[in-house]
This record gives sequence, structure tokens and C-alpha cells, in this order.
Amino acid sequence: MRVDAVFVGRAYLGGRFEEVAVAVEGDTIAAVTKPALAPRGEETVVLSPKQLLLPGMVDLHVHMREPGLEHKEDWRSGSMSAAKGGVTCVFDMPNNVPPANTCDRLREKVAKALSKSIVDFGLYAGCSDEPETLKPCADLFFGFKLYPEDLYSPRAQPTFKLAAELGKPVFVHAEDPSLFRDSPLHSEARPPEAEASAVELALELARSTGAWLHLTHVSTKPALEKILASKALGKVTFDVTPHHMLLSDSLYRSPLAKIAKVNPPLRSEEHRAAVYAAARSGAADALVTDHAPHALAEKLSENPPPGFPGLELALHLLLKEVLEGRLPPSAIDLYSSKPARLAGLRKGVIAPGFDADLVIVELAEWSVKGSELVSKAKYTPFEGWTMRTKTVATYVRGRCVYRDGEFGEGGARA
Ligand code: NCD
Ligand code: ZN
Repeated sequence: MRVDAVFVGRAYLGGRFEEVAVAVEGDTIAAVTKPALAPRGEETVVLSPKQLLLPGMVDLHVHMREPGLEHKEDWRSGSMSAAKGGVTCVFDMPNNVPPANTCDRLREKVAKALSKSIVDFGLYAGCSDEPETLKPCADLFFGFKLYPEDLYSPRAQPTFKLAAELGKPVFVHAEDPSLFRDSPLHSEARPPEAEASAVELALELARSTGAWLHLTHVSTKPALEKILASKALGKVTFDVTPHHMLLSDSLYRSPLAKIAKVNPPLRSEEHRAAVYAAARSGAADALVTDHAPHALAEKLSENPPPGFPGLELALHLLLKEVLEGRLPPSAIDLYSSKPARLAGLRKGVIAPGFDADLVIVELAEWSVKGSELVSKAKYTPFEGWTMRTKTVATYVRGRCVYRDGEFGEGGARA
């Protein structure tokens, strides 16, 4: 038997690293064998002892900004950012201009992304006054996304009902705007209580409709406790971000305050530790970046918009925690097999029958510089952090989309 490609080296095989050969045929992983038993490949990629083979990461929460906000990011720059970060599949949020909340707009977005993205993608549908009109194009989106203003509007209940009927998740950004306060400090303007309160409302809507509720970027201890307590009662899942795991609201009293502004805000040490613990214990269902790029001038303005880019750093932040002993290797599942399974994809796992989404990383120390990101947003609250790994190459369904600073043509799939 001769296959298209064989990768030989130390690979992540769910919880552990093992010396193997991974055979790729077309789009798919054909076999994982001991190196001595590898089939012959048209191409053979032998990893060095300093390199590791990982499954492609799957990010369930990104903002590629196209259509409408291409000065912040577009499908090309955003997907390049993903490829460089070892992310082979992204799920894009609907807060475009205009919002992606009709079949026509979702169709246009799919066409745009197919023509420009170098990684695979999925989409969310935004909230609308007539959610029923999304029924005919239900195959175009993975789930619904509700922002705080949607959750506290008459649109919320019908969206949950339709989601239950279609068997799709409702991703909720849980913050209760009635608890927001006037404060120059972002973490005080949107206090922890606002998250717990919105989680309660979302859980109530999920219970009354039977819908699958997914709480995204959960950032506080009381909210985590409520979510974990209700998991047994219905389909309730949640994700956490690297920034809520690793950064705290002390940044809001630093020169990075504007850059670090994000919703929900970075929190105090107590909440940060609780989010980290949810990732370490495996309680979290996924890690997401909430890659939310804005133009640097916007971020440095008097009233900066919330959010910052994350796709290029998330995997390497995760590997830093693993290599420095604070997270178990299985934490890699949070950004690969677990989100892939939630999305019903044969991705995020190095095993026969799965998409040949593969990432080669190399042990290397480097210092994060926002100015060097390939995202249009060339800044990060992780400025100056020391990383332990870098991406050498990224393959999407067997096709090389990134190697040593160069990008290939993708041919993305929705
Ligand atoms: C989001 C964005 O920029 O699209 N920003 C963020 O801080 N998460 C919008 C939002 O979720 O408020
Ligand atoms: Zn977001």
C-alpha cells in the first residue's frame, strides 16, 4: 500500500505522546502505526526530536469580521492567523455589519469564506425577530449566538424554541446589562454578578424549551458553580478562554488597560483561578479564543471597543501550561477533540477516519510581540510573554496551509 503522505514522530494520541507514523490518504488519516510498520508515502515528513505532531485545533468562537468590518480582519487574514496558531477549523460569530441573521446573509458569508479562508469553518446564526425564517437554511449554521441584549429581549425565547426543534446549540454571552455600573475600571463596570444573573436566565430558557445551552467565555466562579450544578439536568455545555484562565483585572491598572479591554472583563484572582481549575479538571467542554480583532487606533481611542486577537497564541499558551507542568497533557483535548465532538466533526483527533488536520510544533523559546501577529490586529494583552513552542507547519485535510512563515492556498470546507 502506498499513501499520499506519512508523518513520523512524537504525536499526541489523546492524553499522551507516542512515537508513531500517521498515514494520510486524500483528506483523511488512513492509519496510525508503529514507525516500523508505516506504509510508504508519496511524501514522508519526519519530525525532529524537538518537534511534536498534534491534531489541528478547533476554535468554536472567533470573529473574522467579514462582511462589514474588514478593516479589523477578513477571512484571509483571520484564517492565516488561525493556520499560524495551529487552528484548522474556526466557528465564526454573527455580529457582522449587517448581522448574519438571515438565510441570504448566511449564504453570502459561506460563499465569501469558501473563497478566502485557508482553514475549515462553521458559522453561527444571529438573533432576529423572525428566527423561523432560518429554518430553510438550517444546514448553513452550527448554532445560534445570543448577545446580552438578545438574551434580555423578546427574541430570546423563540430562538431557544427553534434551536430545540432543530437540535442546535444556543451559544450565550451571559452578562445582565441591568447590573452594569458606571466605572472607569472595566471589571467594575461589568461586575461578576452580571454573569451569574444572566446564566440563571439562560438556564431557565434552556429548561423551559429543552434546548441545548452553551455558555461561552465563562469568567466567574459563581457562574461556573451554577453551570456545573445544572449539567445533570439537561444539555448544558460551556467554554473558557485563555485570557480568563491566565490574565486578571490587574491589567486594567496597567499600560495594557485599553488593549486588555474585553467582554466579559478580565476578573480578580479568585475568578481567574476558578476558570483555570475548570480547564484543568476537564470540567470545561472547550477552550475558545473569542478572537475579537479591532484596529489598533480603535483600541487606543478614548472609548476602546472590547476584544483582542487570540488565534495565533492560544495553542502555544496551552502548551506552555502543559510543558511547565500546570496542566495535564489531556488539556490539549479542550481545544481539539472536545470542541470537534460538540460540533459533530471528525476532526481534532489523530486516528484513522478523522480529517488529516495536523500541526507540527517545535520546542522553541520566543517572546510574544503583538506587532508580529499576522492578524490585522497587531497587539495582544500577552505582550512579552515567553512561549515554549512555535508552529512549524499546519495541514488542513492533508493540504499544507502554513510552513515556516509561508502560507499555502487552502480550499476551505464549510
Ligand atoms: C466582541 C467583539 O468584538 O465582537 N468583543 C468581546 O470583547 N468579546 C463583542 C462582544 O462579545 O461583546
Ligand atoms: Zn465573541
